[in-house]
Amino acid sequence: MSASVPRHPASAPTAAIVADLLEHGVVIAEGVLSPDLLTRFNAEIDPILEQISPKRSYLNPLLDFFYGDRVRQITGVASQSRIFGAEVLCHPFYTAVCDAVLGANCANYQLNVAQVMDRGPGAEQQLLHRDEDVWIHLPRPHPEVQVASVIALVDFTAELGATVVAPGSHRWERDRRPEPDELGHAEMPAGSAVLYLGSTIHAGGRNSTTDRWRRGMHMSFVVGWLRTEDNNYLSTPPAVARTLPRRSQELLGYAAHDAIASGGGYLGTVDLLDPVDLLARGRL
Ligand SMILES: [Fe+2]
Repeated sequence: MSASVPRHPASAPTAAIVADLLEHGVVIAEGVLSPDLLTRFNAEIDPILEQISPKRSYLNPLLDFFYGDRVRQITGVASQSRIFGAEVLCHPFYTAVCDAVLGANCANYQLNVAQVMDRGPGAEQQLLHRDEDVWIHLPRPHPEVQVASVIALVDFTAELGATVVAPGSHRWERDRRPEPDELGHAEMPAGSAVLYLGSTIHAGGRNSTTDRWRRGMHMSFVVGWLRTEDNNYLSTPPAVARTLPRRSQELLGYAAHDAIASGGGYLGTVDLLDPVDLLARGRL
């Protein structure tokens, strides 16, 4: 695996980061989470992870195989981590990137899923895949519908299972599979994120260590008119959502998707009103 992944400091101009994301299908941004935010977030999820077993069942046997039995996962992170809900979910870095990539393709975008994935010693490499294949009915080609990422919550090295990516694969023919030298590891220091498009081939890397966990968080955003992987309204119900910043409520999908100004219609209303307004008024 020798392909290189373009990288920038997260403080670089958004246009430069987005240009590489669109050109190569993947880009690393170093220092997305400040050292302080990273430390506080890790401290908050430490006790949660301690209670989680890597041996669990999933929706179906294929997912059992995909995730394996050496990964501790925290799903519905906004419900379990105040720091995630108030500071990571609505982080301005992600807002800037998603505005640029998804903004023209929807009235607003939303969280697709966030899950902490703590990949343990011996965890095998995931199957290479494209995240947007969960929407297999979406005709191709199509405008960008997804900005996906993995945030390194510890230093990501190849040995520890840094995400494996195929730069450029977002433009490949559908059936083309990467050669070994077309793959590279997204090695990066803790607090960094590897961003990729929904059509970019990638996989969680193999953890070759015997005693260390690769703690990362998958977080992806999608256009507001697409069904999300995580059912965010149930994972983060109104009782929790109403305690979060309005921006986070919007990103959790509570905002109506109002495309009337573009000649479309609206989605996601309650009583024909915007649920984020109802949360603010105590009606949800
Ligand atoms: Fe993935």
